[in-house]
Amino acid sequence: MRPVRALLAGPRGGAAWPGMSQEIGVTGLAVMGANLARNLARHGCRVVVHNRTRARTDALLAAHGDEGEFVATGSTGEFVATLQRPRRIIVMVQAGASTDAVVHELMDLLDAGDVLVDGGNARYTDTIRRTAALAEKGVHFVGAGISGGEEGALLGPSIMPGGSAEAYALIGPLLESIAAVVDGTPCCTHVDGDGAGHFVKMVHNGIEYADMQLIAEAYDLLRVRLGMSPAEIGEVFAGWNAGDLDSYLIEITAEVLRHVDADTGRPFVDVVLDQAEQKGTGRWTVQSALDLGVPVSGIAEAVFARALSGHAEQRGPARGALPGPAAPPEPVTDRDGFVEAVRQALYASKVVAYAQGFDQVAAGAEAHGWHVDRAALATIWRGGCIIRARFLDRIRQAFTDDPALTTLLVHPYFRDAVAQCQEGWRTVVVEAARAGVPAPGFASALAYYDGLRAERLPAALVQGLRDLFGAHTYRRVDREGSFHTLWSEDRSERPVG
Ligand code: 6PG
Repeated sequence: MRPVRALLAGPRGGAAWPGMSQEIGVTGLAVMGANLARNLARHGCRVVVHNRTRARTDALLAAHGDEGEFVATGSTGEFVATLQRPRRIIVMVQAGASTDAVVHELMDLLDAGDVLVDGGNARYTDTIRRTAALAEKGVHFVGAGISGGEEGALLGPSIMPGGSAEAYALIGPLLESIAAVVDGTPCCTHVDGDGAGHFVKMVHNGIEYADMQLIAEAYDLLRVRLGMSPAEIGEVFAGWNAGDLDSYLIEITAEVLRHVDADTGRPFVDVVLDQAEQKGTGRWTVQSALDLGVPVSGIAEAVFARALSGHAEQRGPARGALPGPAAPPEPVTDRDGFVEAVRQALYASKVVAYAQGFDQVAAGAEAHGWHVDRAALATIWRGGCIIRARFLDRIRQAFTDDPALTTLLVHPYFRDAVAQCQEGWRTVVVEAARAGVPAPGFASALAYYDGLRAERLPAALVQGLRDLFGAHTYRRVDREGSFHTLWSEDRSERPVG
Protein backbone atom coordinates (compact mmCIF):
# COMPACT_ATOMS: atom_id res chain seq x y z
CA MET A 1 0.00 0.00 0.00
CA ARG A 2 1.36 3.43 -0.84
CA PRO A 3 1.95 5.79 2.08
CA VAL A 4 -0.55 8.39 0.99
CA ARG A 5 -1.93 9.26 4.40
CA ALA A 6 0.49 12.17 4.70
CA LEU A 7 -0.17 13.33 1.15
CA LEU A 8 -3.88 13.37 1.72
CA ALA A 9 -3.80 15.45 4.87
CA GLY A 10 -6.57 17.98 4.36
CA PRO A 11 -7.94 20.89 6.35
CA ARG A 12 -7.53 18.94 9.58
CA GLY A 13 -4.04 17.74 8.77
CA GLY A 14 -1.87 20.32 7.07
CA ALA A 15 -0.14 19.89 3.72
CA ALA A 16 -2.47 18.84 0.92
CA TRP A 17 -2.97 19.01 -2.80
CA PRO A 18 -4.59 22.31 -3.62
CA GLY A 19 -8.31 22.11 -2.94
CA MET A 20 -7.91 18.63 -1.60
CA SER A 21 -9.42 17.29 1.57
CA GLN A 22 -8.86 13.94 3.18
CA GLU A 23 -12.54 13.31 3.40
CA ILE A 24 -15.03 11.55 1.19
CA GLY A 25 -18.51 10.10 1.47
CA VAL A 26 -19.47 6.69 0.14
CA THR A 27 -23.12 5.73 -0.18
CA GLY A 28 -24.12 2.22 -1.19
CA LEU A 29 -22.24 -0.34 0.86
CA ALA A 30 -22.79 -3.58 -1.01
CA VAL A 31 -19.51 -5.36 -1.62
CA MET A 32 -18.10 -2.94 -4.25
CA GLY A 33 -19.03 0.15 -2.22
CA ALA A 34 -17.83 -1.35 1.06
CA ASN A 35 -14.51 -2.37 -0.46
CA LEU A 36 -14.00 1.02 -2.06
CA ALA A 37 -14.75 2.70 1.28
CA ARG A 38 -12.21 0.39 2.97
CA ASN A 39 -9.64 1.16 0.27
CA LEU A 40 -10.13 4.89 0.86
CA ALA A 41 -9.91 4.49 4.62
CA ARG A 42 -6.78 2.38 4.33
CA HIS A 43 -5.26 5.22 2.31
CA GLY A 44 -5.79 7.70 5.08
CA CYS A 45 -9.15 9.17 4.15
CA ARG A 46 -11.83 9.95 6.64
CA VAL A 47 -14.69 8.07 5.03
CA VAL A 48 -18.25 9.05 5.82
CA VAL A 49 -20.37 6.02 5.00
CA HIS A 50 -24.06 5.56 4.35
CA ASN A 51 -26.35 2.83 3.16
CA ARG A 52 -30.10 2.73 2.62
CA THR A 53 -30.38 0.04 5.26
CA ARG A 54 -28.33 0.87 8.34
CA ALA A 55 -27.45 -2.78 9.05
CA ARG A 56 -24.92 -2.81 6.21
CA THR A 57 -23.18 0.28 7.54
CA ASP A 58 -22.96 -1.27 10.99
CA ALA A 59 -21.69 -4.55 9.54
CA LEU A 60 -18.94 -2.72 7.65
CA LEU A 61 -17.80 -0.88 10.74
CA ALA A 62 -17.99 -3.97 12.94
CA ALA A 63 -15.87 -6.00 10.54
CA HIS A 64 -13.45 -3.37 9.24
CA GLY A 65 -13.87 -0.25 11.36
CA ASP A 66 -10.28 -0.59 12.57
CA GLU A 67 -8.83 -0.26 9.05
CA GLY A 68 -9.08 3.53 9.06
CA GLU A 69 -11.28 6.44 9.96
CA PHE A 70 -14.93 5.72 9.22
CA VAL A 71 -17.89 7.84 10.20
CA ALA A 72 -21.19 5.97 10.10
CA THR A 73 -24.30 7.94 9.23
CA GLY A 74 -27.95 6.89 9.18
CA SER A 75 -30.05 9.13 6.97
CA THR A 76 -29.07 10.74 3.69
CA GLY A 77 -29.52 14.10 5.40
CA GLU A 78 -27.06 13.19 8.13
CA PHE A 79 -24.65 11.79 5.53
CA VAL A 80 -24.59 15.02 3.57
CA ALA A 81 -24.54 17.24 6.66
CA THR A 82 -21.50 15.40 8.04
CA LEU A 83 -19.35 16.04 4.96
CA GLN A 84 -16.96 18.97 4.64
CA ARG A 85 -17.46 21.32 1.70
CA PRO A 86 -17.06 21.04 -1.17
CA ARG A 87 -18.58 17.65 -0.56
CA ARG A 88 -17.14 14.69 -2.38
CA ILE A 89 -19.45 11.71 -2.60
CA ILE A 90 -19.11 8.37 -4.35
CA VAL A 91 -22.36 6.60 -5.17
CA MET A 92 -21.96 2.82 -5.40
CA VAL A 93 -25.43 1.50 -6.09
CA GLN A 94 -26.94 -0.58 -8.87
CA ALA A 95 -27.01 1.10 -12.26
CA GLY A 96 -30.38 2.31 -13.47
CA ALA A 97 -33.34 3.16 -11.24
CA SER A 98 -31.40 2.81 -7.97
CA THR A 99 -28.80 5.31 -9.15
CA ASP A 100 -31.52 7.71 -10.25
CA ALA A 101 -33.23 7.42 -6.86
CA VAL A 102 -30.01 8.11 -4.92
CA VAL A 103 -28.89 10.92 -7.21
CA HIS A 104 -32.31 12.51 -6.98
CA GLU A 105 -32.32 12.37 -3.21
CA LEU A 106 -28.81 13.77 -2.92
CA MET A 107 -29.40 16.47 -5.51
CA ASP A 108 -31.73 18.39 -3.22
CA LEU A 109 -29.20 18.34 -0.39
CA LEU A 110 -26.05 19.28 -2.30
CA ASP A 111 -24.70 22.74 -3.07
CA ALA A 112 -22.91 24.30 -5.99
CA GLY A 113 -19.30 23.11 -6.12
CA ASP A 114 -19.99 19.69 -4.58
CA VAL A 115 -18.88 16.61 -6.52
CA LEU A 116 -20.99 13.51 -6.98
CA VAL A 117 -19.22 10.49 -8.44
CA ASP A 118 -21.21 7.55 -9.80
CA GLY A 119 -18.89 4.57 -9.60
CA GLY A 120 -21.42 2.02 -10.86
CA ASN A 121 -21.71 0.48 -14.30
CA ALA A 122 -24.14 3.19 -15.50
CA ARG A 123 -25.18 3.51 -19.10
CA TYR A 124 -23.26 6.48 -20.45
CA THR A 125 -26.37 8.11 -21.86
CA ASP A 126 -27.83 8.13 -18.33
CA THR A 127 -24.62 9.75 -17.14
CA ILE A 128 -24.95 12.49 -19.76
CA ARG A 129 -28.51 13.12 -18.57
CA ARG A 130 -27.54 13.17 -14.88
CA THR A 131 -24.55 15.44 -15.55
CA ALA A 132 -26.83 18.00 -17.21
CA ALA A 133 -29.41 17.81 -14.42
CA LEU A 134 -26.83 18.36 -11.67
CA ALA A 135 -25.05 21.07 -13.63
CA GLU A 136 -28.21 23.16 -13.29
CA LYS A 137 -27.46 23.29 -9.56
CA GLY A 138 -23.75 23.80 -10.10
CA VAL A 139 -23.04 20.29 -8.77
CA HIS A 140 -20.28 18.40 -10.59
CA PHE A 141 -21.38 14.94 -11.66
CA VAL A 142 -18.63 12.47 -12.49
CA GLY A 143 -19.51 9.19 -14.15
CA ALA A 144 -16.54 7.03 -13.24
CA GLY A 145 -15.92 3.61 -14.68
CA ILE A 146 -14.39 1.43 -11.99
CA SER A 147 -13.06 -1.96 -12.95
CA GLY A 148 -11.49 -4.78 -11.02
CA GLY A 149 -14.35 -6.48 -9.27
CA GLU A 150 -14.52 -6.85 -5.50
CA GLU A 151 -10.82 -7.43 -5.05
CA GLY A 152 -9.88 -4.52 -7.26
CA ALA A 153 -12.17 -2.16 -5.35
CA LEU A 154 -10.34 -3.09 -2.17
CA LEU A 155 -6.78 -3.43 -3.35
CA GLY A 156 -6.60 -1.07 -6.31
CA PRO A 157 -9.01 -0.80 -9.24
CA SER A 158 -8.60 0.83 -12.61
CA ILE A 159 -10.60 4.05 -12.54
CA MET A 160 -11.97 6.00 -15.52
CA PRO A 161 -13.53 9.22 -14.23
CA GLY A 162 -15.38 11.31 -16.78
CA GLY A 163 -16.84 14.77 -16.19
CA SER A 164 -15.20 18.17 -16.33
CA ALA A 165 -11.58 19.10 -15.67
CA GLU A 166 -12.83 21.21 -12.73
CA ALA A 167 -14.46 18.16 -11.17
CA TYR A 168 -11.37 16.05 -11.79
CA ALA A 169 -9.23 18.59 -9.96
CA LEU A 170 -11.46 18.05 -6.92
CA ILE A 171 -11.71 14.27 -7.00
CA GLY A 172 -8.94 12.99 -9.27
CA PRO A 173 -6.00 12.93 -6.83
CA LEU A 174 -8.11 11.06 -4.31
CA LEU A 175 -9.13 8.44 -6.89
CA GLU A 176 -5.55 8.17 -8.13
CA SER A 177 -4.43 7.43 -4.58
CA ILE A 178 -6.59 4.29 -4.32
CA ALA A 179 -6.09 2.97 -7.86
CA ALA A 180 -3.84 0.10 -8.88
CA VAL A 181 -0.30 1.19 -9.75
CA VAL A 182 1.77 -0.09 -12.68
CA ASP A 183 5.38 1.04 -13.13
CA GLY A 184 4.74 3.86 -10.66
CA THR A 185 1.73 5.16 -12.57
CA PRO A 186 -1.73 5.05 -10.98
CA CYS A 187 -4.37 3.30 -13.08
CA CYS A 188 -6.68 6.30 -13.07
CA THR A 189 -6.99 8.96 -15.73
CA HIS A 190 -9.46 11.69 -16.52
CA VAL A 191 -11.53 10.90 -19.59
CA ASP A 192 -12.77 14.34 -20.41
CA GLY A 193 -16.48 14.73 -21.03
CA ASP A 194 -19.86 14.11 -19.43
CA GLY A 195 -20.52 10.47 -20.35
CA ALA A 196 -16.93 9.65 -21.31
CA GLY A 197 -15.98 7.72 -18.17
CA HIS A 198 -18.89 5.34 -18.39
CA PHE A 199 -18.53 5.10 -22.16
CA VAL A 200 -14.95 3.86 -21.94
CA LYS A 201 -15.88 1.51 -19.08
CA MET A 202 -18.67 0.14 -21.28
CA VAL A 203 -16.17 -0.51 -24.08
CA HIS A 204 -13.78 -2.05 -21.52
CA ASN A 205 -16.54 -4.49 -20.65
CA GLY A 206 -17.22 -5.15 -24.33
CA ILE A 207 -13.57 -6.07 -24.78
CA GLU A 208 -13.88 -8.20 -21.64
CA TYR A 209 -16.75 -10.10 -23.32
CA ALA A 210 -14.73 -10.63 -26.51
CA ASP A 211 -11.65 -11.72 -24.59
CA MET A 212 -13.61 -14.29 -22.57
CA GLN A 213 -15.35 -15.64 -25.68
CA LEU A 214 -11.99 -16.15 -27.41
CA ILE A 215 -10.58 -17.87 -24.33
CA ALA A 216 -13.64 -20.13 -24.24
CA GLU A 217 -13.22 -21.02 -27.92
CA ALA A 218 -9.55 -21.88 -27.37
CA TYR A 219 -10.51 -24.15 -24.47
CA ASP A 220 -13.28 -25.81 -26.50
CA LEU A 221 -11.03 -26.55 -29.47
CA LEU A 222 -8.30 -28.04 -27.29
CA ARG A 223 -10.85 -30.16 -25.51
CA VAL A 224 -12.79 -31.37 -28.55
CA ARG A 225 -9.95 -31.77 -31.03
CA LEU A 226 -7.21 -33.01 -28.70
CA GLY A 227 -9.34 -34.69 -26.05
CA MET A 228 -7.48 -32.84 -23.31
CA SER A 229 -8.97 -32.64 -19.83
CA PRO A 230 -9.89 -29.26 -18.32
CA ALA A 231 -6.98 -29.58 -15.89
CA GLU A 232 -4.55 -30.26 -18.76
CA ILE A 233 -5.91 -27.26 -20.63
CA GLY A 234 -5.50 -25.27 -17.42
CA GLU A 235 -1.80 -26.13 -17.59
CA VAL A 236 -1.66 -24.92 -21.18
CA PHE A 237 -3.23 -21.60 -20.17
CA ALA A 238 -0.82 -21.27 -17.25
CA GLY A 239 2.02 -21.73 -19.75
CA TRP A 240 0.53 -19.15 -22.12
CA ASN A 241 0.30 -16.73 -19.22
CA ALA A 242 4.08 -16.68 -19.07
CA GLY A 243 4.28 -15.28 -22.61
CA ASP A 244 2.68 -12.59 -24.78
CA LEU A 245 -0.79 -13.62 -23.63
CA ASP A 246 0.05 -12.76 -20.01
CA SER A 247 -3.18 -11.30 -18.61
CA TYR A 248 -5.57 -11.55 -15.71
CA LEU A 249 -8.22 -13.40 -17.74
CA ILE A 250 -5.73 -16.03 -18.97
CA GLU A 251 -4.45 -16.43 -15.42
CA ILE A 252 -7.91 -17.03 -13.94
CA THR A 253 -8.81 -19.34 -16.83
CA ALA A 254 -6.06 -21.69 -15.64
CA GLU A 255 -7.50 -21.46 -12.15
CA VAL A 256 -11.09 -22.18 -13.17
CA LEU A 257 -10.10 -25.06 -15.47
CA ARG A 258 -8.05 -26.74 -12.75
CA HIS A 259 -10.85 -26.46 -10.22
CA VAL A 260 -12.63 -29.69 -9.26
CA ASP A 261 -16.21 -29.79 -7.97
CA ALA A 262 -16.15 -30.92 -4.36
CA ASP A 263 -19.52 -32.70 -4.55
CA THR A 264 -18.94 -34.81 -7.62
CA GLY A 265 -15.19 -34.87 -8.07
CA ARG A 266 -15.77 -33.77 -11.66
CA PRO A 267 -14.07 -30.81 -13.34
CA PHE A 268 -15.86 -27.66 -12.23
CA VAL A 269 -16.53 -26.59 -15.85
CA ASP A 270 -18.43 -29.84 -16.40
CA VAL A 271 -20.93 -29.23 -13.62
CA VAL A 272 -21.72 -25.62 -14.60
CA LEU A 273 -24.69 -24.99 -16.91
CA ASP A 274 -23.37 -23.90 -20.31
CA GLN A 275 -25.52 -20.78 -20.52
CA ALA A 276 -23.59 -17.53 -20.10
CA GLU A 277 -25.43 -14.63 -18.55
CA GLN A 278 -24.93 -10.90 -18.91
CA LYS A 279 -25.85 -7.75 -17.09
CA GLY A 280 -25.90 -5.56 -20.16
CA THR A 281 -22.66 -3.67 -20.70
CA GLY A 282 -21.58 -5.89 -23.61
CA ARG A 283 -24.95 -5.44 -25.26
CA TRP A 284 -24.75 -1.65 -24.75
CA THR A 285 -21.30 -1.64 -26.36
CA VAL A 286 -22.66 -3.29 -29.48
CA GLN A 287 -25.75 -1.08 -29.57
CA SER A 288 -23.54 2.00 -29.40
CA ALA A 289 -21.16 0.58 -32.00
CA LEU A 290 -24.06 0.05 -34.38
CA ASP A 291 -25.05 3.69 -33.98
CA LEU A 292 -21.46 4.86 -34.44
CA GLY A 293 -20.91 2.54 -37.41
CA VAL A 294 -17.87 0.90 -35.82
CA PRO A 295 -17.50 -2.80 -36.68
CA VAL A 296 -16.80 -4.28 -33.25
CA SER A 297 -17.45 -7.74 -34.63
CA GLY A 298 -15.48 -9.52 -31.89
CA ILE A 299 -17.58 -7.95 -29.14
CA ALA A 300 -20.80 -8.55 -31.09
CA GLU A 301 -19.95 -12.23 -31.61
CA ALA A 302 -19.28 -12.57 -27.90
CA VAL A 303 -22.62 -11.01 -26.98
CA PHE A 304 -24.45 -13.19 -29.50
CA ALA A 305 -22.58 -16.31 -28.39
CA ARG A 306 -23.84 -15.68 -24.86
CA ALA A 307 -27.36 -15.17 -26.22
CA LEU A 308 -27.18 -18.39 -28.25
CA SER A 309 -25.96 -20.32 -25.22
CA GLY A 310 -29.00 -19.13 -23.29
CA HIS A 311 -31.55 -20.27 -25.87
CA ALA A 312 -32.04 -23.72 -24.39
CA GLU A 313 -35.43 -24.05 -26.09
CA GLN A 314 -33.75 -23.86 -29.51
CA ARG A 315 -30.58 -25.73 -28.64
CA GLY A 316 -32.46 -28.77 -27.34
CA PRO A 317 -34.32 -29.63 -30.56
CA ALA A 318 -31.42 -28.52 -32.77
CA ARG A 319 -28.98 -30.81 -30.95
CA GLY A 320 -30.72 -33.89 -32.27
CA ALA A 321 -31.91 -32.52 -35.60
CA LEU A 322 -29.01 -30.67 -37.19
CA PRO A 323 -26.33 -32.89 -38.73
CA GLY A 324 -22.66 -32.05 -38.29
CA PRO A 325 -19.81 -32.84 -40.69
CA ALA A 326 -20.53 -36.04 -42.66
CA ALA A 327 -17.24 -37.70 -41.78
CA PRO A 328 -15.63 -37.34 -38.36
CA PRO A 329 -12.60 -35.07 -38.67
CA GLU A 330 -9.19 -36.68 -38.88
CA PRO A 331 -7.55 -36.84 -35.48
CA VAL A 332 -4.95 -34.14 -34.90
CA THR A 333 -1.56 -35.80 -35.10
CA ASP A 334 0.66 -32.85 -34.23
CA ARG A 335 -0.65 -32.12 -30.76
CA ASP A 336 1.94 -29.46 -29.86
CA GLY A 337 1.51 -27.84 -33.25
CA PHE A 338 -2.23 -27.59 -32.73
CA VAL A 339 -1.82 -26.11 -29.23
CA GLU A 340 0.51 -23.51 -30.72
CA ALA A 341 -1.95 -22.78 -33.55
CA VAL A 342 -4.72 -22.18 -30.99
CA ARG A 343 -2.41 -19.86 -29.06
CA GLN A 344 -1.76 -17.93 -32.24
CA ALA A 345 -5.47 -17.73 -33.06
CA LEU A 346 -6.17 -16.49 -29.56
CA TYR A 347 -3.45 -13.85 -29.64
CA ALA A 348 -4.33 -12.51 -33.09
CA SER A 349 -8.07 -12.46 -32.38
CA LYS A 350 -7.43 -10.72 -29.09
CA VAL A 351 -5.47 -7.98 -30.83
CA VAL A 352 -8.39 -7.55 -33.25
CA ALA A 353 -10.87 -7.27 -30.36
CA TYR A 354 -8.80 -4.64 -28.59
CA ALA A 355 -8.22 -2.76 -31.86
CA GLN A 356 -11.98 -2.67 -32.46
CA GLY A 357 -12.64 -1.51 -28.90
CA PHE A 358 -10.14 1.35 -29.20
CA ASP A 359 -11.75 2.29 -32.53
CA GLN A 360 -15.08 2.57 -30.74
CA VAL A 361 -13.54 4.74 -28.03
CA ALA A 362 -12.19 7.10 -30.69
CA ALA A 363 -15.50 7.18 -32.57
CA GLY A 364 -17.52 7.76 -29.39
CA ALA A 365 -15.21 10.57 -28.33
CA GLU A 366 -15.51 12.21 -31.71
CA ALA A 367 -19.28 11.88 -31.84
CA HIS A 368 -19.74 13.37 -28.37
CA GLY A 369 -16.94 15.94 -28.44
CA TRP A 370 -15.00 14.29 -25.61
CA HIS A 371 -11.25 14.29 -25.26
CA VAL A 372 -10.10 10.71 -24.77
CA ASP A 373 -6.41 9.92 -24.99
CA ARG A 374 -6.17 6.29 -26.09
CA ALA A 375 -2.59 5.97 -24.85
CA ALA A 376 -3.68 7.14 -21.40
CA LEU A 377 -6.56 4.68 -21.46
CA ALA A 378 -4.26 1.79 -22.39
CA THR A 379 -1.96 2.94 -19.58
CA ILE A 380 -4.66 2.67 -16.92
CA TRP A 381 -5.97 -0.63 -18.29
CA ARG A 382 -2.56 -2.21 -17.62
CA GLY A 383 -3.50 -2.81 -14.01
CA GLY A 384 -6.46 -3.18 -11.69
CA CYS A 385 -9.09 -3.92 -14.32
CA ILE A 386 -10.48 -7.19 -15.64
CA ILE A 387 -8.84 -6.84 -19.07
CA ARG A 388 -5.41 -6.00 -17.66
CA ALA A 389 -2.81 -7.63 -19.83
CA ARG A 390 0.86 -7.39 -20.62
CA PHE A 391 0.18 -6.36 -24.20
CA LEU A 392 -1.69 -3.24 -23.06
CA ASP A 393 1.75 -1.76 -22.53
CA ARG A 394 2.36 -2.34 -26.25
CA ILE A 395 -0.98 -0.69 -27.01
CA ARG A 396 0.01 2.27 -24.82
CA GLN A 397 3.26 2.50 -26.77
CA ALA A 398 1.47 2.29 -30.13
CA PHE A 399 -0.88 5.19 -29.33
CA THR A 400 2.01 7.15 -27.83
CA ASP A 401 4.03 6.64 -31.01
CA ASP A 402 1.08 7.79 -33.08
CA PRO A 403 -1.86 9.38 -31.25
CA ALA A 404 -3.80 9.52 -34.54
CA LEU A 405 -3.25 5.82 -35.36
CA THR A 406 -6.17 4.72 -37.55
CA THR A 407 -6.11 1.13 -36.28
CA LEU A 408 -3.87 -0.68 -33.87
CA LEU A 409 -3.46 -3.41 -36.48
CA VAL A 410 -1.25 -1.25 -38.70
CA HIS A 411 1.16 -0.24 -35.97
CA PRO A 412 4.43 -2.03 -36.81
CA TYR A 413 4.53 -3.99 -33.54
CA PHE A 414 1.02 -5.39 -33.87
CA ARG A 415 1.23 -5.75 -37.65
CA ASP A 416 4.24 -8.03 -37.19
CA ALA A 417 2.91 -9.83 -34.12
CA VAL A 418 -0.38 -10.67 -35.84
CA ALA A 419 1.39 -11.62 -39.07
CA GLN A 420 3.45 -14.13 -37.11
CA CYS A 421 0.25 -15.70 -35.80
CA GLN A 422 -1.50 -15.75 -39.13
CA GLU A 423 -0.79 -19.31 -40.12
CA GLY A 424 -1.97 -20.85 -36.89
CA TRP A 425 -4.99 -18.54 -36.86
CA ARG A 426 -6.11 -19.66 -40.32
CA THR A 427 -5.48 -23.32 -39.50
CA VAL A 428 -7.63 -23.09 -36.39
CA VAL A 429 -10.54 -21.42 -38.17
CA VAL A 430 -10.44 -24.09 -40.90
CA GLU A 431 -10.11 -26.90 -38.34
CA ALA A 432 -13.02 -25.55 -36.30
CA ALA A 433 -15.26 -25.35 -39.36
CA ARG A 434 -14.24 -28.85 -40.51
CA ALA A 435 -14.86 -30.38 -37.12
CA GLY A 436 -18.10 -28.49 -36.53
CA VAL A 437 -16.81 -26.70 -33.44
CA PRO A 438 -18.28 -23.20 -33.15
CA ALA A 439 -15.55 -20.57 -33.12
CA PRO A 440 -17.36 -17.34 -34.02
CA GLY A 441 -14.80 -15.15 -32.27
CA PHE A 442 -11.78 -16.57 -34.09
CA ALA A 443 -13.59 -16.70 -37.44
CA SER A 444 -15.03 -13.20 -37.31
CA ALA A 445 -11.73 -11.71 -36.14
CA LEU A 446 -10.00 -13.31 -39.11
CA ALA A 447 -12.72 -12.11 -41.49
CA TYR A 448 -12.29 -8.60 -40.08
CA TYR A 449 -8.53 -8.78 -40.59
CA ASP A 450 -8.96 -10.01 -44.16
CA GLY A 451 -11.62 -7.37 -44.77
CA LEU A 452 -9.32 -4.59 -43.62
CA ARG A 453 -6.39 -5.74 -45.74
CA ALA A 454 -8.39 -6.56 -48.88
CA GLU A 455 -7.40 -4.78 -52.07
CA ARG A 456 -11.04 -4.73 -53.22
CA LEU A 457 -14.13 -5.64 -51.24
CA PRO A 458 -17.35 -6.99 -52.75
CA ALA A 459 -19.04 -3.87 -51.39
CA ALA A 460 -18.95 -2.63 -55.00
CA LEU A 461 -21.49 -5.31 -55.89
CA VAL A 462 -23.63 -4.32 -52.92
CA GLN A 463 -23.61 -0.77 -54.28
CA GLY A 464 -24.67 -2.04 -57.69
CA LEU A 465 -27.57 -3.96 -56.20
CA ARG A 466 -28.68 -0.97 -54.16
CA ASP A 467 -28.60 1.19 -57.25
CA LEU A 468 -30.59 -1.33 -59.30
CA PHE A 469 -33.46 -1.88 -56.89
CA GLY A 470 -33.58 1.49 -55.20
CA ALA A 471 -31.68 4.05 -57.29
CA HIS A 472 -29.47 4.57 -54.23
CA THR A 473 -26.55 5.69 -56.45
CA TYR A 474 -22.87 4.79 -56.29
CA ARG A 475 -19.48 6.42 -56.61
CA ARG A 476 -16.91 5.41 -59.24
CA VAL A 477 -13.24 4.56 -58.86
CA ASP A 478 -12.26 6.82 -61.75
CA ARG A 479 -14.41 9.96 -61.37
CA GLU A 480 -15.72 12.23 -58.62
CA GLY A 481 -19.44 12.44 -57.88
CA SER A 482 -22.41 10.12 -57.50
CA PHE A 483 -23.98 8.13 -60.32
CA HIS A 484 -27.07 6.14 -61.16
CA THR A 485 -27.51 3.61 -63.96
CA LEU A 486 -30.88 3.51 -65.74
CA TRP A 487 -31.18 -0.23 -65.16
CA SER A 488 -34.71 -0.66 -66.55
CA GLU A 489 -34.09 1.58 -69.56
CA ASP A 490 -31.03 1.66 -71.75
CA ARG A 491 -28.52 1.12 -68.88
CA SER A 492 -26.84 4.41 -69.54
CA GLU A 493 -25.30 6.18 -66.58
CA ARG A 494 -26.30 9.57 -65.21
CA PRO A 495 -24.40 11.78 -62.77
CA VAL A 496 -26.56 12.55 -59.74
CA GLY A 497 -26.62 15.67 -57.58
C1 6PG B 1 -15.22 -5.00 -14.08
C2 6PG B 1 -16.29 -5.92 -14.58
C3 6PG B 1 -17.56 -5.68 -13.86
C4 6PG B 1 -18.57 -6.79 -14.01
C5 6PG B 1 -19.11 -6.95 -15.40
C6 6PG B 1 -19.75 -8.28 -15.59
O1 6PG B 1 -14.69 -4.29 -14.92
O2 6PG B 1 -14.93 -5.01 -12.89
O3 6PG B 1 -16.50 -5.71 -15.92
O4 6PG B 1 -18.01 -4.44 -14.25
O5 6PG B 1 -18.00 -7.97 -13.56
O6 6PG B 1 -20.05 -5.97 -15.60
O7 6PG B 1 -20.58 -8.16 -16.64
P1 6PG B 1 -21.59 -9.27 -17.12
O8 6PG B 1 -22.37 -9.70 -15.90
O9 6PG B 1 -22.43 -8.58 -18.11
O10 6PG B 1 -20.76 -10.37 -17.65
